[in-house]
Amino acid sequence: MHIKLYPEQKGKPLGNLFGLFFEDLNHAADGGLYAERIQNRDFEFDPADRPDYHALTGWKTVGEAAVEVTQADDAPFPNNPHVAVIRAGVGAGIANTGWGSGMFAEAGERCRLVLWAKADADLRLRAELCGSETTFTVGPAWSRYEAILMPEETVDRAELRILAPAGGTFRLATVSLMPLDTYKSEENGLRRDLAEALAEMKPKFLRFPGGCLTHDGTLDPDARDGIYNWKRTVGPVENRPARRNNWHYHQTMGLGFFEYFRFCEDMGCEPLPVVNAGMDTHHLRFAEGELFERYVQDAVDLIDFAKGGPETEWGRVRCEMGHPAPFRLRYLAVGNEEIYERFHRNMARFAEAIRKKDPTVELIGTAGPVCGGKPYDMGWAYAREQKLDYVDEHYYQSPEWFLAHADHYRDYPADGPKVFLGEYASWGNRMRNALAEAAYMTGLQSAPAVALACYAPMLCHAEYVNWQPDMLWFDNRRILKTANYHVQSMFMRHQGDCSIPFEAVGNDPLPEEALDMGGKITVFADETDVRLSDIVLSTPDGETKLPDTTLGGRDTLPIGDAAGDFTLSLTMRRIGGHRGIAIRFGEGEDGEFFDWTVGGWQNSDSGIGHRRKYGGSCLTQSNFSVEDGRDIRLTLSVRGRTITSFVDGEILNETDVKPIRLKPLYLAASVDERSGDVILKAVNVREEPVDAVIPLTCSRCIAEQLCAAPDAENTFDNPDAVKPVVFELPAGEQTAYTFPGDSVTILRFKP
Ligand code: AHR
Repeated sequence: MHIKLYPEQKGKPLGNLFGLFFEDLNHAADGGLYAERIQNRDFEFDPADRPDYHALTGWKTVGEAAVEVTQADDAPFPNNPHVAVIRAGVGAGIANTGWGSGMFAEAGERCRLVLWAKADADLRLRAELCGSETTFTVGPAWSRYEAILMPEETVDRAELRILAPAGGTFRLATVSLMPLDTYKSEENGLRRDLAEALAEMKPKFLRFPGGCLTHDGTLDPDARDGIYNWKRTVGPVENRPARRNNWHYHQTMGLGFFEYFRFCEDMGCEPLPVVNAGMDTHHLRFAEGELFERYVQDAVDLIDFAKGGPETEWGRVRCEMGHPAPFRLRYLAVGNEEIYERFHRNMARFAEAIRKKDPTVELIGTAGPVCGGKPYDMGWAYAREQKLDYVDEHYYQSPEWFLAHADHYRDYPADGPKVFLGEYASWGNRMRNALAEAAYMTGLQSAPAVALACYAPMLCHAEYVNWQPDMLWFDNRRILKTANYHVQSMFMRHQGDCSIPFEAVGNDPLPEEALDMGGKITVFADETDVRLSDIVLSTPDGETKLPDTTLGGRDTLPIGDAAGDFTLSLTMRRIGGHRGIAIRFGEGEDGEFFDWTVGGWQNSDSGIGHRRKYGGSCLTQSNFSVEDGRDIRLTLSVRGRTITSFVDGEILNETDVKPIRLKPLYLAASVDERSGDVILKAVNVREEPVDAVIPLTCSRCIAEQLCAAPDAENTFDNPDAVKPVVFELPAGEQTAYTFPGDSVTILRFKP
């Protein structure tokens, strides 16, 4: 292959293309990036957050002690009113065991212990951590006590003990234990190893505080189980009210909006906050009237919190938190994956108010959780009409889908709103997944319409998995960089400032895969009872009628086989349950299939999916709910690679299945304007190496490469199975290089 680069012809400005997305799921914040070692530091855990939680989760008694948690009228932090009352015998007290299977303590690591405590009369307390101890005399008024503890040994299942050597009754409102060695030594800080692993990627932006996290909750912005409200995450850390996290745990909000903005500042990237659009998308709750206006005002006030002076209410909060200088705030996303017309009405009001407050803020709308379909098209049409700056797209697909769609955005128009690919991942952390994502990212870099993109989710505590795959795994003492992490990092660190054109002679697409649409057809009840009648399967060989039947629970009904084109029609009436059915088709011996889901998720949608060897993909989705006791005529038609579904004669979904047509190399090229470096990214997703010659004069050519078998995966026991290596190629007028199979290579040609 011959790859000719044209560095003098500047193309698409790459701006802030590759960034990060943080969501507090998988205990990404508490027990994760947020460096607090104490679980339930303020005794606010509650079954409202998760049924098995209680006010003493994470705590145990030591010796002869009775502990009771009560709401105290005089609690030092009114937003967290619970205090533990400890009636301790001689030498007895209370101990915290930390997150997951146990608190990690490292010999010689200096940790700051902060207690808010009081006793009936002056009482000596002793705090112990792995051989390190300190004493306090606690008086009868609430006071803050601080000391440094330094464990004498490294222990995986450590305990922080607070004991009364002579016995007595004392009260604790807050107990915090944080290493001093946090990221950038911040006091209310981040776990250094995790934060550094993120910062060293050199992200251009950070989307926070999450996806579903921002749109699941009751509509009361002041409630513990209310929708995420950034205002409750700022100010003195001990007084930030606890929140029920929709990923089934408790959020202290110790990592709040101030800390997110600070983290962005430290990493040198743009903050990209997401605010709720006045609706809970999961439970279809919509704020009205004054309540809705409060959501709008919260979004507007965020601009003051970030950039306003001390004369503004929320700018003052930032100043009082020790940051008089404004933060950057270029982007603001309203909503996460809202696919209802109602969102568009809400967004219009948000856009009006935000633009009035600060017309420089760039607004991000949403196209929902799927890469195509009616709500997706509506999201885009609306964004164009409203002249939004970006449309946030989300999808989690098979690696095969990413390969088949490597040029997905090639023909998206470059004018009007730009693509913000706010969440994407292929289903897995193996090299195969990283390769498919890398191939896709060359397309993201090259497509003029794509402005911002970030992998999701970012962090996962290995003992608290809500969602996988994830980019960076960790436990209480270790971190694990996945193959996907390395790809993201390589693309970020070598992004470049603007793309440049290239010609790759000999890089023609290889023959298309043989994608078989034929196979078994089966109807599945989705934990729902349905009456099916008038069932007719038509294929080019003729028509088959099946007897009427009733399905319940997870019953299945085999319909037959179709070698290729077919039409299946049936009448469905729901007689019990809460969802609908799925029709699986094209199921072959290889286990791959398509399916049409009718009334899926929360009986709220209808989608066409494609299950492949390495994962499933949703190809298109529409809003649809099945009603009880009403006959609906469902028709599924496959013609060639076009799949169409109809309800009562109206098209509900339509999609063309795209087969994989691999290229020898997936390429993207850019220049770094400061250094003058020309950067070539080359992804070889096949086993066969590819010989290439690149005519370009350079003084040095530095290569960074990730190369491993498709099945390779980093684990805590073998964390470097997939790891980039850096090496140099001979400099001169041209570079000849053989790109190995299963590799992602960055070549940096220095002028
Ligand atoms: O990244 C996990 C979840 O996937 C996000 O919370 C949500 O936005 C998406 O559906």
